[in-house]
Amino acid sequence: MPHRFAALQAHQSQFANRPILSLFDDQRAQAFSLQVDGMLFDFSKTNIDANALAQLLALSETAGLAEKRAAMFGGQKINDTEGRAVLHTALRASDAAQLMVDGADVMPQVRATRARMAEFANAVRSGAFQGQGGKITDVVNIGIGGSDLGPAMATLALAPYADGPRLHYVSNVDGAHIADTLKGLNPLTTLVIVASKTFTTIETMTNADTAKRWMAGKVANPAAQFCAVSTAAAKTAAYGIDPSRVFGFEDWVGGRYSLWGPIGLGVMLAVGPQAFDQFLAGGRAMDDHFRTAPFAANMPVLLALVGLWHNQICGYTTRAVLPYDQRLSRLPAYLQQLEMESNGKRVAMDGADLPYASGPVVWGEPGTNGQHAFYQLIHQGTRVVPCEFLVAKAGHEPDLAHQHLLLVANCLAQSEALLRGRSLSDATAIMAQKGLTGAELDRQARHRVFPGNRPSTTLAYAKLTPFTLGQIIALYEHRVFVEGVILGLNSYDQWGVELGKELAVALQPILEGRESTAGKDGSTQALVAFLRP
Ligand code: F6P
Repeated sequence: MPHRFAALQAHQSQFANRPILSLFDDQRAQAFSLQVDGMLFDFSKTNIDANALAQLLALSETAGLAEKRAAMFGGQKINDTEGRAVLHTALRASDAAQLMVDGADVMPQVRATRARMAEFANAVRSGAFQGQGGKITDVVNIGIGGSDLGPAMATLALAPYADGPRLHYVSNVDGAHIADTLKGLNPLTTLVIVASKTFTTIETMTNADTAKRWMAGKVANPAAQFCAVSTAAAKTAAYGIDPSRVFGFEDWVGGRYSLWGPIGLGVMLAVGPQAFDQFLAGGRAMDDHFRTAPFAANMPVLLALVGLWHNQICGYTTRAVLPYDQRLSRLPAYLQQLEMESNGKRVAMDGADLPYASGPVVWGEPGTNGQHAFYQLIHQGTRVVPCEFLVAKAGHEPDLAHQHLLLVANCLAQSEALLRGRSLSDATAIMAQKGLTGAELDRQARHRVFPGNRPSTTLAYAKLTPFTLGQIIALYEHRVFVEGVILGLNSYDQWGVELGKELAVALQPILEGRESTAGKDGSTQALVAFLRP
């Protein structure tokens, strides 16, 4: 039986080389873009035409997207390889919301934890909660993956709103990370957040122990300057952290979706509970839109369909995320986890092998820096890399508005260059003007040809406020959901990270020399021999 993308693949193959530029009439820019709550998503610079869009939208219908969306928002256990609901949206739901999991409303607990977080954040920010040397000046968040990437990304994104203690994020088990972070900090005025959903992650627990040792000797009671964010209350208590500074959440919040609740504590400490509320409001606005807008006018659905078009249908295996917004410089890393840990799977819900590609490789760096690094390949390499640009109309530095304009000009220039390219005849004319002739003119001109016809999308917004950041992150979360539904995957487990963890545990005593390398492959044996201390 042909798979669900087969008809679209056949359709696409008929016009694979059609110039995207030829699709533009005076309607296209409007028809293939969408504005929602002040945000504009433009996907007109892709080879999607009305026919393809209709077929893509039909795919979302046949995949049962509406029912699955209702199941997710309704607290059903759609993460069925772990037997869990997927309800991170509860963390940003309105005060009036009621959300049932296993027959019980989870919202009273969500609201109570949110209120405790705000109370604690206010106390730290005002100095009512003190370190053993006075007001908290620095906060070190120790976590990894979803317990790091989200809050680290958001803290940087919201830097203009930061008026609390300085935030630092430590994730890597490489001692260099924590050593460099703690250097220069005062243990008497530093608060440590141990952020781990499971409270078992080896990197995080090892770094937490190191931070504790760093404080011991200088601080009478290090544990009093520790707080914890976790679903594992018993483990946080066993670690010696007072329950008043433990902020819990439930297993229906996936690690990479957890920024909206206690895992966002660092963000709240930096920007304050009010700005954090605005961030939640932005996410909630996107939830409302995703839940209610028809698919053809639904931003997460359209973003997902464009993603599927490029990866599963056109066969472009990577996706570049290119924020023309320096403060979104950690967004690509955050999206790598969100998208690749969610949809990087080769087995469908029913256990069968996927007959098409899984989610794409996601990568990127902020513009304009990327332009001076890897855009060469994007413009002239043999692979097509769909590019996703993000850009704000205004920055936060009114006296540097001329720089912002230059930034925007660069962003638009890149999508235009990808679309138009430069023909051989134009390149030849340029080189002829420089005095080249004959075979040398031909050769040099060919190096200066841009094939163009390379797809990109642009997400434009007024300004990177807390509200806007909430909209953007919820938009990508729902995009992952929609792609996962149409791919037929479970986007909410992550079994693919387990094997490496198990082998690392087994390799520790081997590296220490307490156990032999017998049974290991030749390469691993040789590497152990070289790396053993
Ligand atoms: O190893 C992957 C992972 O389980 C991620 O899914 C998660 O975000 C990260 O590790 C950290 O887990 P925890 O918050 O439990 O320490």
